Amino acid sequence: MQALSEKTSKPYNLNFFCHTPPAVDFAREATWREALSPYYAEFGIDPASIASGPGRQPFSAEMADLLDEFRPAVVSFHFGLPSAELLARVKACGAKVLSSATTVAEALWLEANGADAIIAQGLEAGGHRGMFLTDELSSQLGTFALLPQMVQAVRLPVIAAGGIADAAGVRAAMALGAAGVQVGTAYLCSDEASTSAIHRAALQSPAAQHTALTNLFSGRPARGIVNRLMRELGPISPHTPAFPLATAAIAPLRTQAESQGSGDFSPLWAGQNVTGCKAISAAELTRELALGFAG
Ligand SMILES: Cc1cc2nc3c(=O)[nH]c(=O)nc-3n(C[C@H](O)[C@H](O)[C@H](O)COP(=O)(O)O)c2cc1C
Repeated sequence: MQALSEKTSKPYNLNFFCHTPPAVDFAREATWREALSPYYAEFGIDPASIASGPGRQPFSAEMADLLDEFRPAVVSFHFGLPSAELLARVKACGAKVLSSATTVAEALWLEANGADAIIAQGLEAGGHRGMFLTDELSSQLGTFALLPQMVQAVRLPVIAAGGIADAAGVRAAMALGAAGVQVGTAYLCSDEASTSAIHRAALQSPAAQHTALTNLFSGRPARGIVNRLMRELGPISPHTPAFPLATAAIAPLRTQAESQGSGDFSPLWAGQNVTGCKAISAAELTRELALGFAG
């Protein structure tokens, strides 16, 4: 945040996950490691050497302390909202609060619980699904089915996300009632993105035309390019440790495979529309997308 605020005086958006961290389920960990054991053997990895890491941390009081200091204009959340007490602290620092909704029911919940705007995350979107009231994947709708229904159901502004990759996509979302758009995948090959070389190559290859929702890498469904692990185990497994604990068991496989130039065990996050991925600056890409607001 220090680095960010030194580089710009313009308003910026900070994003946090706000899941409830699960307790480690040792029986489930063991079942999952058993499923991965042929891969550990292939790479000469001793499964006993892999710690059950805590994984990604949810928004916390310590993080709220930093918001007090840096006062971002916008704070967005994935997986619902933090506790009422923490949310009040975010609002007290003056930030507008956004969160992703993947169903109309989630949008209504966010409106009732203090969000200032709602991100309609369609099924096409890359990365983790923000779903938080359901884990039923069949409840998830494509952007252009979800967006108009959400716009009709809530009073808050709705931001369209999922599959938008160019100005024409922006225009189409605005025509369906969006107040703005959120684009993720198209930025993954931009100069500023920290996307790895392996991930960039996959995004720019024909393999990127086949993505799927998978829980193998983190324990929650997220959309990525289908790779060897997803093909061989099936993209969704009932045996993965709960989010975010599943990250630990895959990490050494990912490290070994990547050191050999392979993305077979990497989460190659991508949405269903990678046509906007270009090796240009994020500013240039944003200007291209913004032409869609011009009408
Ligand atoms: C690589 C990647 C990482 C993402 N990480 C986050 C995240 O940390 N928090 C979040 O709220 N959304 C995250 N998203 C989801 C985006 O905010 C957005 O919903 C999505 O990218 C829009 O669809 P698109 O990928 O088709 O553009 C991520 C998306 C991608 C592709």
